[in-house]
Amino acid sequence: MAPVYDEFTHLNDYETWFGTLIPALEKHGLRRGRLLDVGCGSGKAFAPMLARGWSVHGCDVSPAMLELARAKGGADVRVDVADMRELPRFGEFELVWALNDPVNYMLDPEELDLALTGMRRNLGPDGLLMFDANTIEAYRGFFCEETVVERDGWRLIWRGRSRPDDPPGTVFEASFEAEPLAGHDGAPIAPELHRERHFPEAEVLAAIARAGLECLDVFGYTDEDGLVDPLDERAHYKAIFIARRASE
Ligand SMILES: C[S@@+](CC[C@H](N)C(=O)[O-])C[C@H]1O[C@@H](n2cnc3c(N)ncnc32)[C@H](O)[C@@H]1O
Repeated sequence: MAPVYDEFTHLNDYETWFGTLIPALEKHGLRRGRLLDVGCGSGKAFAPMLARGWSVHGCDVSPAMLELARAKGGADVRVDVADMRELPRFGEFELVWALNDPVNYMLDPEELDLALTGMRRNLGPDGLLMFDANTIEAYRGFFCEETVVERDGWRLIWRGRSRPDDPPGTVFEASFEAEPLAGHDGAPIAPELHRERHFPEAEVLAAIARAGLECLDVFGYTDEDGLVDPLDERAHYKAIFIARRASE
């Protein structure tokens, strides 16, 4: 998906998102400094942080995504191939985040534990962790229907393969493929399977505690209302978690 990820997600508006996310972090004493972007993908989320003077370290399991991130960040960004289930200690960061649902690629609670433990490993003493997880509402929509985007010479096709009555905690599936429109010389991208697990709020909170973290806030998110407290899994499409190291 890497070659066309930015086209497929062109509606993601990180500036608007940050307009609500950053103040929520500042409420918990966010200090400006170093950001570790876990599952950074093509670097869409870290670009606005560079503009705000943060130093950025991105990591992702996909070398193809990281090529794009490297091109966006240039010399100001360090990127490393890393699986978040075995995240090395890259350093001490004021902020560690995983945005736009990387944690949903964890396919069971044990994998989520490994990912959160690895993120904790990279938190400085006052560092904050933020990540989002798709709600059941999101999976029962996007992963159960077809979405077609035509943009920049491409037809991008997302085919949800799951059912709207699949229960919470299901691994939802969709396939993605792309074909060039007439006059575009890109090669078609064969269908690839995307598997993401829904994690109910209670499962995420339990995983946060097992990873030695303290949850500071949980929000729902909608485009119309921004951050909403309390989270309502049936009304909001994302759940946002903010945490820090639990005191020992
Ligand atoms: C939906 S994309 C989000 C990318 C980026 N954070 C953004 O906001 O555009 C999810 C990312 O998670 C990455 N990912 C999936 N499984 C991973 C794993 N086990 N370790 C690290 N990254 C992973 C994917 O390669 C992909 O780049």
